[in-house]
Amino acid sequence: MIAFDSLGTRSMSTYIATKSTSILIDPGSALGPRRYGLPPHPIEYEKLKEHKERISDMARESDIIVVTHYHYDHIPRPGEDISWLSRKKILIKDPHHNINYSQRMRAGIFLENLKKVDADVEVVDGRELVFGGCRLAFSEPLQHGNDSRLGYVLQVMVHEAGETVIHTSDVEGIVVEEQARFIISNMPQIVVCDGPMTYMLGDKYSKEDLKKSMRNLKKIIKKTGVETLILDHHLARDRDWRIKLKDFLEEVRDMVEIKTAASYMGLPEQSLESMRDTLWKLYKVGEED
Ligand SMILES: [Fe+2]
Ligand SMILES: [Fe+2]
Repeated sequence: MIAFDSLGTRSMSTYIATKSTSILIDPGSALGPRRYGLPPHPIEYEKLKEHKERISDMARESDIIVVTHYHYDHIPRPGEDISWLSRKKILIKDPHHNINYSQRMRAGIFLENLKKVDADVEVVDGRELVFGGCRLAFSEPLQHGNDSRLGYVLQVMVHEAGETVIHTSDVEGIVVEEQARFIISNMPQIVVCDGPMTYMLGDKYSKEDLKKSMRNLKKIIKKTGVETLILDHHLARDRDWRIKLKDFLEEVRDMVEIKTAASYMGLPEQSLESMRDTLWKLYKVGEED
């Protein structure tokens, strides 16, 4: 877990090392532009810098970089130094098909910049690749969260020596059944999942979406016997998520270990965006102490 919302920035950047290879999924990190009507706090900018540095450090050490889609919390922004991606093998979501207009534009710019640093880029939608004893599989393009107008994402499966991990990318808690299918068919022990977007409940995320998400997550837990389910990203932007998911958490308590990226790493949760109003109240910029 390199950078995640529960660690302080919008991201799902994940590093997986197997015996045969090392993989970094989604080399980007960002801040929510407005929350509680407030811009990011300087403490969030500091964290963003730290996360971006950590991403570039880990990317340098990785054999493979995966790009699940082209939102700026998953890839670097134009203008950022990406020399750390020089000559890297980069497995990407198809930038031309099953993609919305804004992501197509962003993908175009990103790929131009990758060319300049001599990256070795390959489209992997729906494919399976083998690196030594490690098998990497990618889902077909799946709807971004609850709204295909936001484009499509790839889920990633990493399998070696009987162990399987899945990174779901931006599914917002598995709102549609197709997003669950790839996970169930691969029977993972660990799922790194974008949790339901409860901070937008009643707005861009309906109660019906949340119900569907709970149903699909339960189905995944029952059918795969997954041992650890990491729920983070959209979910960790809500400081009350444990209250909103109370019934679900109680129901699955004996079946699976539910973690955030922070708690999985044994670190304190620091969902800075969810606390932005408090940050601005407690730490006013320019104020002397
Ligand atoms: Fe996204
Ligand atoms: Fe995202």
